Amino acid sequence: MHNNRTTITQFIIEEQRQIKGATGDFTALLNDIVTACKVISNLVNKGALVGVLGSADTSNVQGETQKKLDIISNEVFIKSNEWAGHVAAMGSEEMDEVYQIPAQYPRGKYLLLFDPLDGSSNIDVNVSVGTIFSILRCPDGVENPVEKDFLQPGTKQICAGYALYGPSTMMVLTTGRGVNGFTLDQNIGEFILSHPNLRIAEETVEFAINMSNSRFWEPPVKRYIEECLAGKTGARGKDFNMRWIASMVAEVHRILARGGVFMYPLDSKSKDKGGRLRLLYEANPMSFIIEQAGGVSTTGRERIMDIQPSNLHQRVPVILGSKQEVERMIGYHREMG
Ligand code: AHG
Ligand code: MN
Ligand code: MN
Repeated sequence: MHNNRTTITQFIIEEQRQIKGATGDFTALLNDIVTACKVISNLVNKGALVGVLGSADTSNVQGETQKKLDIISNEVFIKSNEWAGHVAAMGSEEMDEVYQIPAQYPRGKYLLLFDPLDGSSNIDVNVSVGTIFSILRCPDGVENPVEKDFLQPGTKQICAGYALYGPSTMMVLTTGRGVNGFTLDQNIGEFILSHPNLRIAEETVEFAINMSNSRFWEPPVKRYIEECLAGKTGARGKDFNMRWIASMVAEVHRILARGGVFMYPLDSKSKDKGGRLRLLYEANPMSFIIEQAGGVSTTGRERIMDIQPSNLHQRVPVILGSKQEVERMIGYHREMG
């Protein structure tokens, strides 16, 4: 039985065979990303035993205090991906500027964007965290990519994925041909295809939002949540359940597994910044995965993957998940402005 198990490497190679003219570069890049996630998984798993928990007492470009593991995971991702000649440049939540490939290494044809450790406020309390990544093509003729070369709408992504460091470590990927999930077998050090062709239930009675922000919300969001809370006795005529993990990777994973809606909408607190979550390395890759699994992802006013980015660390409102509920939210935004 064990010989029939599909490893992530085998899966990627078989996918590559379907793509005309593929050179193997993309397969090799994904392999390096997988390696980075295995290293991060190992560190997250060992936690206090290897002294990686706690604050680093530094801030990133977004003004957020960095955890030691934010910085270490960023380092791991860079080191795993800079040497092999598949990547032309990288962008990360934890780096102010575009990361140029050091001169001693060849440059590749891909741009790699990542959130090395998502949900890092959870790290010290031993709750799930993750890594999110997005792969774009480096524009033709560009030898030294700069910020503007990364400013491509989400529809241009050629691959997006996340690793979830939870009770088991998982990797979930899309290359635009559906969504597949892999579970890390710690004994052999390989991700094994465990969740083929993930699909999101169109209906749901579960929502995820940080309720402590409710007084800052806009009317369409207030209306939607009020109706959910009113349950059976209100306009919706059914009871809803709520979750908030504060780790987008874990929330998106739950939605892939059993449906739901996840929202970090525009609110008066984050309006000046454009929202809470980052477009290029959080919202876009997650939107690609959600759409590929049959869900919907929007700001409330436009499809996230259609947004023309204006800067590397741009933030956007995010509402994603089960089709019927997200479409209802889009309707409320249309009606209520
Ligand atoms: P990060 O740890 O990479 O900064 O991202 C955390 C994000 C996201 O994963 C989560 O949904 C949200 O921020 C949580 O925000 P609140 O703490 O405001 O609930
Ligand atoms: Mn994040
Ligand atoms: Mn992060």
